[in-house]
Amino acid sequence: MKKALSILLSASLLAGVMTSFAFAEEAETAADHSDQTIGIAMPTKSLERWNRDGEYLKEQFEEAGYSVQLKYSDNDIEQQNNDISNMIADGVDLLIIAAIDGESLTQTLADAKDAEIPVIAYDRLIMETDAISYYVSFDNYTVGVLQGQFVIDSLGLDIDNTEDSYNIEFTAGDPADNNAGYFFNGAYDTLEPFIEAGILNIPSGKTSFEQVATPAWSTDTALENFQNTLASYYSDGTVLDIALCSNDSTALGVAQAIQSDYAGDNTPIVTGQDGDIANLQNIVDGIQTMTVYKNVSDEAGVTLVLAEAILEGETPDEGLLEELDAEAAFDTESYDNGTGIIPSYLLVPWTVTVDNLEDLVETGLYEWDEDEKYLVSTAK
Ligand code: BGC
Repeated sequence: MKKALSILLSASLLAGVMTSFAFAEEAETAADHSDQTIGIAMPTKSLERWNRDGEYLKEQFEEAGYSVQLKYSDNDIEQQNNDISNMIADGVDLLIIAAIDGESLTQTLADAKDAEIPVIAYDRLIMETDAISYYVSFDNYTVGVLQGQFVIDSLGLDIDNTEDSYNIEFTAGDPADNNAGYFFNGAYDTLEPFIEAGILNIPSGKTSFEQVATPAWSTDTALENFQNTLASYYSDGTVLDIALCSNDSTALGVAQAIQSDYAGDNTPIVTGQDGDIANLQNIVDGIQTMTVYKNVSDEAGVTLVLAEAILEGETPDEGLLEELDAEAAFDTESYDNGTGIIPSYLLVPWTVTVDNLEDLVETGLYEWDEDEKYLVSTAK
């Protein structure tokens, strides 16, 4: 008994020593950056993903030993400008910005450039400023392609078979967000041959981004717009087969409109993007059909590696890909912000449906709640 106890004690002592070694090592790395502050500007807490982005960025930068200032600007353009100005005045060493309005930060970022503060455009490209060093995002066009391809695959569309036809309506994102057009175009371009062949019809006639855009990506606006579409074009019994929504916040509103205002007895396909918890639950419940998943913890991780390289005075290029833990591409062609091409690191999105939803547990960001039969977030 005594012997067992002493073995146990020495084992735990050893574990303790090893842990303190590990801590010492971490602390050493951490100490290197303790005098450097990263300013992070996120658009809003009202859309789920930005809460996760903010949390993962803060956590990962702090773990790497940096100080962090994290600001949410309530989807208010003026507030975001002020928040960024304040961080510049505080002398942050690097800025990471997910813009509310891609076109409204030009003057503020000129101040960042004057102060020699490097700026990373996070997820959304910031337009009309030469103060941006890099852009980190997902392949935004591919997000839309995955949504369009999902429709083709699930209905088994065949361009040579014009006998069957289906009705589709689009819901797109915020015109102030540079990403929104990429998502819409990716989906529309993928489906266009089927629209032209008459295999996919759009009863509302709303075929352009402007006609289906949703300011601020608002769930309530998407709900209201879709209720209007259903009332105007589907109340006579016209069947709705597909509601192609650019992201989860709009899909939430559209799915709600379908539940309350759609008279048909089929279940239309509803697409989304992000993997917000409410939408993952809707996928389990059959109210939403798919989401294009973007692992924003990986997006934060890529941003950290990039920021570290910039702060060390490097000019990161394709070679940085080898240092990343996530799959990404280095792109120097796609994203021109009006002042020239912004070199971009683009992560890879993937399709999640009820069939592979539990794979998300492997990311470590979700757990399966056996009682509720839903995924829950492990985020704080
Ligand atoms: C992001 C999407 C998100 C949307 C609304 C976009 O810029 O890329 O992931 O759904 O904003 O928050």
